[in-house]
Amino acid sequence: MHWAYIASVLLHILAATFWLGGMLFLAIVVVPALRGAPERARLLERMGKLFERASVIALAVLLVTGVVNLLFRGVAQVSDLWSSPVGRMGALKLALFVVMAILSLWHNVVLGRRALALLQQGREDPHAARWVLWSRWVGRLLVLLSVILVLLGVLISRGIGL
Ligand code: HEM
Repeated sequence: MHWAYIASVLLHILAATFWLGGMLFLAIVVVPALRGAPERARLLERMGKLFERASVIALAVLLVTGVVNLLFRGVAQVSDLWSSPVGRMGALKLALFVVMAILSLWHNVVLGRRALALLQQGREDPHAARWVLWSRWVGRLLVLLSVILVLLGVLISRGIGL
């Protein structure tokens, strides 16, 4: 087996671990830990920005190594994306990845920022509650999509295609 293929799969898995693990850590540990803290909005904004910057790199690594993995699995041309079982699985991963990246952008740039700006003006604001709810549900959808992407990767690795 080619060393570059091993390196690509390793980087792919490390980036997936960072992306999914980071999202779960923020949702399960950081957000509840800061509940009620006086500096909550400011700290969430700072942590969100730092995670956002690192996750852009993680998503870029996932995309590039995902394409390299497909190449090593014999998906060498665009037409293989619909004419071979692994290619179709790869195409599904690519499509879900694009949806996930757009949702993540919407979550970070629009929903999260609006919710935080309103939270800074006071917790009783009903507009803030609405944006917080939207951010939460889109965040959950991002986790679900990521888990589906991991599952598709596990299937491809075991030779299962579409
Ligand atoms: C957030 C996005 C993604 C996540 C979380 C993710 C996760 C994973 C994981 C954990 C594996 C390893 C499975 C195993 O070894 O059992 C994997 C494998 C794979 N992924 Fe992804 N992936 C993502 C995006 C992509 C994209 C965009 C592509 C295609 C362009 C892709 C193509 C592949 C391929 C071809 C494999 C099989 C590697 C092999 O064994 O040859 N992935 N993925």
